[in-house]
Amino acid sequence: MSKGAALITGASGGIGAELAKLCAAGGYDVILVARSADRLEELAASLSQAHGIEARALAEDLADPAAPETIFERTRGDTIEILINNAGFGVLGPYVETDWAAEARLLQVNVVALAHLTKLYLPEMLRRRSGRILNVGSTAAFVPGPFMAMYYASKSFVLSFSHAIANEVKGTGVTMTVLCPGPTRTGFVEAAGIAGTKLFSGGAMSAEEVARAGYHAMMAGKAEVIAGARNRWMMLGTRLASRTMLAGIARRLNSRA
Ligand SMILES: NC(=O)c1ccc[n+]([C@@H]2O[C@H](COP(=O)([O-])OP(=O)(O)OC[C@H]3O[C@@H](n4cnc5c(N)ncnc54)[C@H](OP(=O)(O)O)[C@@H]3O)[C@@H](O)[C@H]2O)c1
Repeated sequence: MSKGAALITGASGGIGAELAKLCAAGGYDVILVARSADRLEELAASLSQAHGIEARALAEDLADPAAPETIFERTRGDTIEILINNAGFGVLGPYVETDWAAEARLLQVNVVALAHLTKLYLPEMLRRRSGRILNVGSTAAFVPGPFMAMYYASKSFVLSFSHAIANEVKGTGVTMTVLCPGPTRTGFVEAAGIAGTKLFSGGAMSAEEVARAGYHAMMAGKAEVIAGARNRWMMLGTRLASRTMLAGIARRLNSRA
C-alpha cells in the first residue's frame, strides 16, 4: 500500500533534491515543485526508477501569489503525507541599494508561500490525524543579518512560525519541524551572490548531510533541528550575546572576504 505522497518545494537542486531522494527511498511518492521543469522531470524519472514509487514534477513559480492554490488544486487527488517547504533564496547588499522587486519575491517565496501551503495542506492532515511538515529555515533565523536583512528576517519568521504551529498541533498525529542549516554547498551561494563573503570561508556542509538531518528530525517529529554540531554550538552562543553584538558579527560574515 502507498505511504502517501511527499510534496517538496525547491526540489530542482540543493537541499530540496536531497530531501526528495530521502522521501522516495523511504517509500513515499514524490511531487517535486520548482521553476526548472527539465530538472524536476529528470529527478522524478530517476527517483521512480530507483525506488519504484510514483514521482511527478509540478513546475510552478512560488513568487506568484497564486502558485500555492494552483499546486493545491493540482494535487487534489493525492494524499499529501509530507509537506516540505524548502524553496528559498537570498538577496545580498545594503538595504538602501537592494532591488525591492527581488525582495518582494523573496518574501513571497520564503515566507508567504510557506505559510500559505501550510494553511492549504494542514486541515486534511489533521482530519487524517497523520502528516509531517518540514520547513527549511536557517541559522540566519537566530540573528539579525546586515547586508542580507530581508533574508535573515524571512528565516526568523520561518523559525517562529514553525515552533508556534508545532505547538498548536501537538498530540494530533501531525508534526511540524524546522530545519536550520548553516552554510551549505548548493546553488544558493550563486543565486544570492555570496560566494565571496566570509560566510562560507569557515567551511560548509554538503546538501546530503543537511537533508539527512532534516529528514530524520521530521520523521522523529522533532520541532527543531540545527544541522551540524558546529552550527549547534554556534547557535548556543547566540543566546548569550546581545542582538547588537550579533548584528555586528553577521555584518562581518556577510562582507566580502
Ligand atoms: N545553502 C545554504 O547555505 C543555506 C543555508 C541555510 C538555509 N538554506 C535554505 O535552504 C533552502 C534550499 O536552498 P539550497 O541551499 O538548496 O539552494 P538552491 O540549490 O539554490 O535551491 C533552491 C531551490 O528553491 C527553488 N526556488 C527558488 N526560487 C523559486 C521560486 N520562485 N519558485 C519555486 N521554486 C523556487 C529553486 O528551484 P528553481 O530555481 O528551479 O525554481 C531550487 O530548487 C532555502 O530555503 C535556503 O534559504 C540554505
